[in-house]
Amino acid sequence: MAYTGKLGELVKKVEESRTSRVGVHYPRMSQEERQDVLENFHPDYNKNGFRNVKVGVNKGARMPVEMADVFESWSRLRDVNLDLNAAPDYDVDVLIIGGGGAGASAALEAHAAGSEVMIATKLRFGDANTMMAQGGIQAADKENDTPAIHYLDVVGGGRFENVPELARALVMDAPLVIKWLEDLGTMFDKKDDGTMITIHGGGTSRKRMHAARDYTGAEIMRTLRDEVLNKQITVVEFCPAVEILLDKKGQAAGAVLFNLETEQYLIARAKTVIIATGGSGRLHYRGFPTSNHYGATADGLIIGYRAGAKTIYADSIQYHPTGGAYPPQLLGLLVTEKTRGLGATPLNIKGEQFVYHLETRDVESSAIIRECDERELGVPLPTGITAVWLDSPIIELIHGEGTIERQLPAMMRQFQRFGVDIRKEPMLIYPTLHYQNGGLLIDEKGMTAVEKLYVAGEAAGGIHGTNRLMGNSLLDIIVFGRRAGRHAAAVSKDSPVPEGLNLEHVNVYHRELEETGAADERVGPMLLPHYTHR
Ligand code: FUM
Repeated sequence: MAYTGKLGELVKKVEESRTSRVGVHYPRMSQEERQDVLENFHPDYNKNGFRNVKVGVNKGARMPVEMADVFESWSRLRDVNLDLNAAPDYDVDVLIIGGGGAGASAALEAHAAGSEVMIATKLRFGDANTMMAQGGIQAADKENDTPAIHYLDVVGGGRFENVPELARALVMDAPLVIKWLEDLGTMFDKKDDGTMITIHGGGTSRKRMHAARDYTGAEIMRTLRDEVLNKQITVVEFCPAVEILLDKKGQAAGAVLFNLETEQYLIARAKTVIIATGGSGRLHYRGFPTSNHYGATADGLIIGYRAGAKTIYADSIQYHPTGGAYPPQLLGLLVTEKTRGLGATPLNIKGEQFVYHLETRDVESSAIIRECDERELGVPLPTGITAVWLDSPIIELIHGEGTIERQLPAMMRQFQRFGVDIRKEPMLIYPTLHYQNGGLLIDEKGMTAVEKLYVAGEAAGGIHGTNRLMGNSLLDIIVFGRRAGRHAAAVSKDSPVPEGLNLEHVNVYHRELEETGAADERVGPMLLPHYTHR
């Protein structure tokens, strides 16, 4: 029993109101209410914590200060002499930087198209946010649903700021992605008759969330990683890319890798390059804890940006409404939205619901912040922070005993380790830094403004506008990973071996840093969070 003393008293209010809340639908917010809570409580609307970046192709763009700091950094190669036109250490058609779901999907498609492919990854293959994704993957493949309805949800959730072609590609490929994954061996949850079990996520108008319990990402990554290994695609681990190489025409032509074990720089020459390095949660914008993987330090953003790829919505960050808040070992860890999809509701200190449980993430998070800050109706924790309850035991009243063990086994174990039985006791939650909605702008093929440079996965921007819905990230990594892999393979086929490999763009960037005096002593990409013990 984790809730003792004052918390033990407060939890009684949740228990007292539980049965009266079953089957009662809390009203959704009107458009005006949504806008109001966003403007007043969403961290993206707070003027503090942002600034305009001083260098590069998007000079003047608004970004969180922590991201701008990374963008205004010196290359790790600043004082390193490399012979870029000696025989390279690796020579391939398609170089994929990043070993998560997007990188693996790209590798499989490029390999299937006959390309010589290599994945270079910072940590181990599969150490990525994909592995940590829990709740599900969206696809309109049921009779009452269509990609057009999915599209409306995507752009409504994205505040109508999505790049339409990218949102269209996302929803159109989605049913094919589910089939592709199933054919590879992903085991989605099904009913006895073999049909997929699908549920709602925040902002979905149809039940289209396909899941493998509450470890959907791990199940997908397992399948993709096995397939890459089966196909004997080259994977180089512990070798992050620290710069993109361009050729004499200014097209992407490989990357400089840094072997974390030997501390040597290595040259990988390639006819096409795909950045699939994931997000930036480990920059801890505004001091938020994060649900992100240890390696999410914006590496791909900075090396792609230095090479000339443009950013879009760099100032749009997603705070997942339900990050663990207590016990302290769970701080910032994801409590999957599937918990709310199954009916768990956020409650304040009085045991009262204060927001519809499946608002879009931006609105839901803002409402929780308002409850704690302005209304002062959060639950004060012994750790000094404030949180709200997420009433998980109500799930068993709605769907029957055993539902949590069946549908949320990972969540159940995660809390059980620290003495909370979520079948009987509510969770304590607060928004956690979860996702970067923007990134490097791509087209439908995954290509950036730099010829032969592609981006897939969380490092890419434009697909989700300024707020992504649950389950559209596991989807986008596969959709755009596959698209980038296919297109890069086709382009590689018609491309000669690149000549005149250079880092002139890095020199230009350095000159800009000098002129603006922006960089201080910062070096990027940072590769590991600042609190890492090396
Ligand atoms: O809540 C979740 O399970 C997260 C899913 C997502 O970010 O798509």
